[in-house]
Amino acid sequence: MKRIGILTSGGDAPGMNAAVRAVARKALSSNLEVCGINYGYRGLVEGDIFEIKEKEVSDLIQLGGTILYTARYPEFAEKEYQQKGVAQLKRNGIDALVTIGGDGSYHGAVRLTEQGINAIGLPGTIDNDIPFTDQTIGFSTAIQTSVYEIDKIRDTAKSHGRIFVVEVMGRNSGEIALRTAIASGSQVVVIPEKPFDIDQIATTIKDARQRGHQHQIIITAEGAIHADSLTQQLSNLGIENIRGVTLGHVARGGSPTAEDRILASRMGSYAIDLLLAGKGGQAVGIEQGVITHHSMLDLFNTKSKTDLSMYDLANILAY
Ligand code: ADP
Ligand code: F6P
Repeated sequence: MKRIGILTSGGDAPGMNAAVRAVARKALSSNLEVCGINYGYRGLVEGDIFEIKEKEVSDLIQLGGTILYTARYPEFAEKEYQQKGVAQLKRNGIDALVTIGGDGSYHGAVRLTEQGINAIGLPGTIDNDIPFTDQTIGFSTAIQTSVYEIDKIRDTAKSHGRIFVVEVMGRNSGEIALRTAIASGSQVVVIPEKPFDIDQIATTIKDARQRGHQHQIIITAEGAIHADSLTQQLSNLGIENIRGVTLGHVARGGSPTAEDRILASRMGSYAIDLLLAGKGGQAVGIEQGVITHHSMLDLFNTKSKTDLSMYDLANILAY
């Protein structure tokens, strides 16, 4: 192995740049050449590839977004496009790849590994919905950003004695919603993993008001119910002075937390260790504080687990 490629794919996540930097620096210090591939698998197929030297990854660890850009490119699920990608890698002398993205991106990495290009995956997604890792790169920052915004909403909620419904990201996962609910002291949290009863939520809010909680925060994950719809339904059930706010993509941007930078740095370096050991088709994770790897094929057969003890805790502390 002489030259490796790096790409970021799927939804961006804060800390992707820190991961690119770590992969590049570890590779360069291991006497490997490094190429960046822009716009994920689309850029790979189109040959949007450039050489990364030390300078390209300086002043990067603190930056949000991804300097390699990202894309959703469903065509890459087709063999014809994968073969075009392999041809581009060969044309550029690239023997192995590190993919930073979610489990969709891991599928592309497995297909490349099967076609002779060892590929390692780093979990870059704010959602924290990847199996075999306690935390994904970007999750910590997404929570931090959401809580920072909700603290401001709480100020105005308190001034007006209002209820606010705040929608955070998470189409299939309540992980962001749960941690955000705990850290922002919310009254109710609604997640896709748990069925909810609108009458029960209304009663909880009314009871808390009776006990003196004039302003309250309800957190909903986008995949459970949208803020505007939940706000309307609660208003119809007699909850007065209620407003809805959607934080949305705000949580995907911004400078990564120190925790995400450290996680990305550890995982990025480890990815090169795996490639140097001749491994491909492996997903890097962190389990009980230790950086680990698992076969992507095993990962596809495993469902990521939402930590529902956080749901119980959020409800206990809401009293
Ligand atoms: P994420 O990586 O965040 O889960 P996506 O599911 O959108 O995001 O996947 C990112 C990209 O990975 C897709 O746009 C596509 O280029 C590639 N990809 C997804 N599924 C496959 C697949 N079955 N085979 C090959 N490539 C895939
Ligand atoms: O996977 C990360 C994520 O931000 C999800 O939480 C959200 O459902 C989705 O991406 C939004 O995707 P898009 O970039 O297509 O708006």
